[in-house]
This record gives sequence, structure tokens and C-alpha cells, in this order.
Amino acid sequence: MGGEGGGGSCCYFSMQFLILFTSLLLLLPGVLCFSNTTTFPTLTHRNTREAIEIGIGIGIGGGTPPPESEPPLPPCPPPPPPRLPPPPPPPPPPPPPPPPRPRLQFENELQKRAYKVIQRFKKTITCQSKKVIETWKGAKVCKYKGFYCETPPNRKNMPTIASVDFNTFGLCAPTVDKFINELPDVAIFHANSNNFSNTVPILNRLQFFYELDVSNNKLSGLFPGNVLTLVNATFVDVRFNHFFGTVPPGVFDLKLLDVLFLNNNNFFGPLPDNLGSTTAAYLTLANNHFTGPIPRSIGRASNTLIEVLFLNNKLSGCLPYEVGLLAKATVFDAGTNLITGPIPLSFGCLKKVEQLNLAQNLLYGEVPDVVCRLADVGHLANLSLSSNYFTWLGTSCWKLLQRGILDVRKNCIRGLPDQRSPAECFWFFKQPKYCPYLPHIPCRIPWQAATLPEVEAPAVGGGRDKAPPSRYTTYTALHNIHGP
Ligand SMILES: *[C@@H]1O[C@H](CO)[C@@H](O)[C@H](O)[C@H]1NC(C)=O
Ligand SMILES: *[C@@H]1O[C@H](CO)[C@@H](O)[C@H](O)[C@H]1NC(C)=O
Ligand SMILES: *[C@@H]1O[C@H](CO)[C@@H](O)[C@H](O)[C@H]1NC(C)=O
Ligand SMILES: *[C@@H]1O[C@H](CO)[C@@H](O)[C@H](O)[C@H]1NC(C)=O
Repeated sequence: MGGEGGGGSCCYFSMQFLILFTSLLLLLPGVLCFSNTTTFPTLTHRNTREAIEIGIGIGIGGGTPPPESEPPLPPCPPPPPPRLPPPPPPPPPPPPPPPPRPRLQFENELQKRAYKVIQRFKKTITCQSKKVIETWKGAKVCKYKGFYCETPPNRKNMPTIASVDFNTFGLCAPTVDKFINELPDVAIFHANSNNFSNTVPILNRLQFFYELDVSNNKLSGLFPGNVLTLVNATFVDVRFNHFFGTVPPGVFDLKLLDVLFLNNNNFFGPLPDNLGSTTAAYLTLANNHFTGPIPRSIGRASNTLIEVLFLNNKLSGCLPYEVGLLAKATVFDAGTNLITGPIPLSFGCLKKVEQLNLAQNLLYGEVPDVVCRLADVGHLANLSLSSNYFTWLGTSCWKLLQRGILDVRKNCIRGLPDQRSPAECFWFFKQPKYCPYLPHIPCRIPWQAATLPEVEAPAVGGGRDKAPPSRYTTYTALHNIHGP
């Protein structure tokens, strides 16, 4: 240490500085660990105090070494050595004693296992839009927000997590793998509007599982093949994600499926030929990039299919006759595609249809009278055929125009307002046409409006969606968020 036996004021101040500095060293070991000899506080006899204050204020640093000579002051003893002996390392603070863990008392073994899985998943969550994960603590897993318990069929009096409902929780997590698939008794997983990434994990070891909703997340990759192994699934909803590629035929072979929502992804390629094997009552393929024709097998779904949306893809080919076999269909929507041909007369057999949308396609010919008569003898409430190339209206169709049920704007119908220009129509009809005219009507057409019961109970508003924006399940699915 320099500055011994301080005579001059400069030495006193130096001494004072050193004492102060040493005590600082002891007080602020953490700060000094990161300091460096060249970042020493500026010191002169005139402004020592100030300098020290600054030094303390800024935690030592930001200065230059003292100037070598500063006349007319007496010479100082050599400046303090640039580096002070390192302070003895402070004794490491004793590790805080582990908080006395009260042993959690679980209701049963199953809940204890679920607890571990949930706690591990909780650690991977990086955001949430509602304060839910704060409730995921303690042994009462059945009280956690988003978790619901029931006794599995193969147990007695052992309630455990049977259903997980994260709808609209806004949770961010890199994956739900090692979480949902490790709750062995889970039957239902709803995760609409979260920020889950990756894909659908392997769920086929969950023996009770039947309902999967991962809509409106950030899932990506090819069609999640794990869905195909959910042999007992009744509800599969992967809409509003970033899936792409073709849809494998297997998804239409799931034998218990009731609802299949694939809309608002980036699926492309042709629809599998076995599409009609599906048992789904509600099918949405809308807002993807599917190409090729609507598979003729669709007629095979006549006993089950209630609503189907092909809306807004790039489907082409002729409108298949077999659509007319869908005797239970209330919604058939193939709007905004590249489908061509006349409307087969078989469509007159869609006796349950309420919404029939074929707008924005390349359809032509006459709008069949038998189809328009569905408004009287059936349930047709909306026949959207705008932006096509129809040239004629069946006699019953004029009435529907007046009633606002039929929309044929932007067609090629002479005498009607708001039609395409003659040049546009001419150009279209110059192109070769290859679709057959299909006059066969595969049903008995009532010639008079039967005394129909009042319009039947609407095709359920989902049952799953508490406040559907539409009374149609599939149209509701075109919105990314479930009802509140
Ligand atoms: C102090 O920092 C300077 C520049 O940042 C570096 O050149 C020097 O080696 C460091 N000295 C010590 C002892 O770490
Ligand atoms: C979660 O997703 C929503 C909707 O995509 C987005 O607005 C939000 O920024 C995301 N949050 C985080 C933390 O990533
Ligand atoms: C499907 O359900 C049946 C009957 O409930 C059951 O035996 C079978 O284990 C289930 N399979 C899967 C993969 O969940
Ligand atoms: C009829 O259907 C079209 C196409 O789906 C839709 O845009 C329109 O809003 C519907 N009109 C009514 C009155 O429901």
C-alpha cells in the first residue's frame, strides 16, 4: 500500500481515498469482481471527495488514472498500485434451506400422476392470456382451471383428469407432446385459440380419447398423421393452423367420426377418392388449396353427411351427380372454386338442403326448375349462384329471385340486371365444354308443396359452441374462435 505517513494534503486525501476504497472493496465485492484496473476513479487532491462520491455513485468506473504531474502541488507519492490484492472471496452464502415441503395429499394415485405431468407442462408455458396456470398448484388437480375429473370406466371411485379444456386460454408452449398424451385417462382435449406449436402428438395410447380440438393454434407440418390412429375419435378439429400438403385417405376411414374440420390450413392436392366413406355429419374443407374434382364417392355419405363446406379452394371438374344423393344435407357449399358444368337435376333431391352455395365457379346452363322448387317442397332458404355463366332460369326460379332466396348476379342471363358483359359470356362459351348433361333424377319429386312440418330444429349450433354466430355448425367453424 502506498501513501504511508501522510504529510501533505494530497497524501491525506490519498490515504482517505484508499481507506474508503478498501472498505468499498469489502462492501461491494460483487461490483468489483467485474471491474478492471483501468477503470479506476479519477483522483486529485482537489476533487477527491467528489470523485469518490462519483465512484460510489456509479459503482466504480468510468475514469482515467490520476495525471502524473499537477503543478504547483507537491509531488505525490506514487499513485496507488493499479491493482489491489483481490479481496478474499466472500464466503458463499449458505444455500437457503429447502422450504419445508408439506407432503401433498392426493386423492388417489391417478391424480398424483396427473399432477406430475401437469407441473412439468406448466414449466414449458411462456405466455397466457388469462390467469389460469396460477391455479395449477397443490394436490387438488380437479380444481385446476381447464381440467375436469371423472372416474374412468375401468376404475371405481377414482376420479382423475378426463377432460382438458384450454379453449381461448392463449397459452404459449412449444408442444403439447408429453403432456396431453401422458394423461392416460383423458377423453377430451380442447385447445382452441392457444399458441401451441409443433403438431398433434401420438394419442393412440389414450384408451378413452375421442374428442380433439386444436383449432387456431400454431401447429404446422404435414397432415398430423397421429389423427389417423384415433380410431375412437368422434370430433377432430385442426382448423386455423399451418398444416400443409395432401390429406391422407385414412382420415375419411375413421369409423366413429362425427365432426371433421380441416378448414383454414394450407392443404393442397386432390381430395381423396374415398372422401365419401366418411361417417362425419359435419365436414369443412374450406379455405385451403385443394384441387381436382369433388369425389363422386360423396354419394356414399348420404346416410350421415349433414353439412359440407368445400368453399374457397381450387376444385375443378364437373359438379358430380352424386351430390344429389345427399338426402340429409342441410348445407352444401362449394362456392369460390373452379367447378364447371351444369347443375345435375339430381340436385332436386336435396330435400333437406337449406343453404346451397355454388357462387363464383364456372357453372353454366339452366338453373334447374327442380332445384328452385326445393324452396317450396323442401327447405331451401338460400340458393347462391352468382358469378357463374348460367344462361337460363327454370320457371320456379323467377319466384325465388323475387323472394330474395336466389342470387344470380354476374351470370349471363338475358333480361336480368347486373349480368356479365356479352363479351365475357361469349368468350366463356367459346371454350370447349366437357361436362355431361345429367337429366336423371334419383328420387320422387313431389309436384306440390307437401304439408311440411315447420322447418325442423336447425342443424344444431354445434352443441359445442355455446353462442354460435350461425346456426350452422360448419359455418360457425369458419370463425377461428369458439363462442364465449
Ligand atoms: C482491462 O480491460 C482492458 C480493456 O477493456 C483489457 O485490455 C485489460 O486486459 C483488462 N485488464 C485486466 C487485468 O483484466
Ligand atoms: C399468440 O397468438 C396470437 C394469435 O395468433 C398472437 O396475437 C399473439 O401475439 C401470440 N402471443 C405470443 C406471446 O406469441
Ligand atoms: C376404442 O374403443 C374401444 C371400445 O371402447 C376400446 O376397447 C379400445 O381400446 C379403444 N381404442 C383406442 C385406441 O382408444
Ligand atoms: C346466402 O349464402 C351466401 C353464400 O354462402 C351468403 O354469402 C349469404 O349471406 C347468404 N344469405 C343469407 C340471407 O343467408
